[in-house]
Amino acid sequence: MLARKQDNNVTSINVDRAKTAIADFTPRARCYDRYIRPVSHKKLAQGIFDVAKVSKEDRILDIACGTGFVLKYLPPKTYKCGADLCRAMLRNVPTWTDAHKVQAHACALPFHDVSFDVITCIGAINIFDDDELHQVLTEVVRVLKEEGRFIVNVPAFSTPTICDYLLYPFIYPFVKSYNRFLSTISGSNVTIKYYKRDINTVTKIFIGHFDEVKAFTRNDIYRRGMGVKSGFGIVVGNK
Ligand SMILES: C[S@@+](CC[C@H](N)C(=O)[O-])C[C@H]1O[C@@H](n2cnc3c(N)ncnc32)[C@H](O)[C@@H]1O
Repeated sequence: MLARKQDNNVTSINVDRAKTAIADFTPRARCYDRYIRPVSHKKLAQGIFDVAKVSKEDRILDIACGTGFVLKYLPPKTYKCGADLCRAMLRNVPTWTDAHKVQAHACALPFHDVSFDVITCIGAINIFDDDELHQVLTEVVRVLKEEGRFIVNVPAFSTPTICDYLLYPFIYPFVKSYNRFLSTISGSNVTIKYYKRDINTVTKIFIGHFDEVKAFTRNDIYRRGMGVKSGFGIVVGNK
């Protein structure tokens, strides 16, 4: 375990888990944007920006930004920063996004207190174990400005439509084999554990850290899961 002194708090980082994350995502980085995801990227990004009430004046941090999914859709003039543990993923954030890129562990964010209006963490909140998640939220609250918003996406129960039932058997096996093929050719082997926290669990955890917490399900944000019963929600913590 490493310890980092930060004001009066000591943040400890589980080095083995950090090494696993880097080993998992480094080979994936060059193919990452070719994986098919069960979502319209643009619509998800727009949903996130709407619920976070993102404006051009906001300073935005994307934690575990990967190859810059959120950063790519932010308005061009906004101040944006992507933080990720894996340097190979950061290298693939396009330069045209104008984003500042920082290699950092989410439990020890290298930013001053009260620096950002909006912080996002997409597709990554369930990578953190319970201890890490509490540290991440403590760090987020520290670097968020007064009235700042923190937004994550999480699995949420959704009611399947008839179209989901009809399309699922045809599309899902194809997507799975295509993504498996990409993993094989990139030599990536994802071993990091994803925790099974749904929207209710994450909402309860957020309540312990933020003044106000709101949860949105897929109907609010239009994110369709590829599995018949899968869906995604968004949880927003307001400071
Ligand atoms: C599933 S990807 C999501 C990337 C991006 N947010 C997206 O939606 O495309 C998870 C990302 O989390 C990063 N990551 C894993 N553990 C991390 C940690 N402890 N601190 C910061 N980033 C981490 C990985 O390097 C990877 O880029």
